[in-house]
Amino acid sequence: MDFRESLIQHVRGMLSPEEVNELPRGFQTLEDVAILNLKPAVWEKRAIIATALLELLPYIKSVWAKKFGEAKVTGQFRKPTGIEHVAGVKKSEVIAKENGVLFKHDFTKVIFSKGNITERSYLPKLVKPGEHVLDMFAGIGYFSLMIAKHAMPAHVDSCEINPDSYDYLVENIRLNKLGHLITPHLGDCARIVPELVNAGLKADRIVMGVFPPPKEYLAVAFLAVNHETGTVIHYEGKVSDGDTNTLLADVEEEARRTGFVTRISLLESRLVKSLGIRTQHGVIDVLVT
Ligand SMILES: C[S@@+](CC[C@H](N)C(=O)[O-])C[C@H]1O[C@@H](n2cnc3c(N)ncnc32)[C@H](O)[C@@H]1O
Repeated sequence: MDFRESLIQHVRGMLSPEEVNELPRGFQTLEDVAILNLKPAVWEKRAIIATALLELLPYIKSVWAKKFGEAKVTGQFRKPTGIEHVAGVKKSEVIAKENGVLFKHDFTKVIFSKGNITERSYLPKLVKPGEHVLDMFAGIGYFSLMIAKHAMPAHVDSCEINPDSYDYLVENIRLNKLGHLITPHLGDCARIVPELVNAGLKADRIVMGVFPPPKEYLAVAFLAVNHETGTVIHYEGKVSDGDTNTLLADVEEEARRTGFVTRISLLESRLVKSLGIRTQHGVIDVLVT
């Protein structure tokens, strides 16, 4: 019997037939924590569903719920909203393990997007040995840790503005024993990057892993470009119908406006995940000098 069947048996008599139809097929697990994504029709019954889950699966100790379509990631800090503790112990700090890298985080305070897993695994494959990487929007270390663990960078400088994410970035560097390869910096990369450049930084690769596209931060990224050997910029954004040319146009426009870089060549473009029927999360890698 699958999870949904067992759940239906367990809550029999406590939900209407219409509500039973809307029960979830599964849930997300992080360690011994379950996160249910519930349709509005069964939101009022979340305590019954969460308690049933605890009774059915003894290894689950904590149950949280999000209302389908209403839980969002908001603002510059990319903070999750609309996630509520429902049953069991109130635990929201977990360690996710992905490709041998530990990502400690509190899922009520910082995001850890499952949808970006392919890009997190792919990006380190592009990094050549000895590269100096600048991660302008590091979060809890999504790209920085993967690159330090799976590529052979000379060094990674990682900027993060959200103090909660920064604390986890520092903790994750320690947990993964990557302190010799990554330097975390707390604050706005628009302030930190010029300081690093003044101190001599020339980046071989710049990761701009933030959503929506930080077009205004391209001018900041250009400051760290190595004009002799070129710098690869990883630039992300929302695209329509799979057309990543709009991302390239952003880079070209900012290059023209600032005059900081003169040559731009597109190395690769990829779609990270679907965001709707005609919109996707896209990425380009451009070589600039
Ligand atoms: C959430 S991450 C992007 C997620 C990532 N692409 C992945 O694979 O899941 C983006 C991070 O950039 C940080 N951020 C936003 N604006 C910033 C800025 N101006 N300087 C430094 N960090 C910033 C946010 O706090 C957030 O932690």
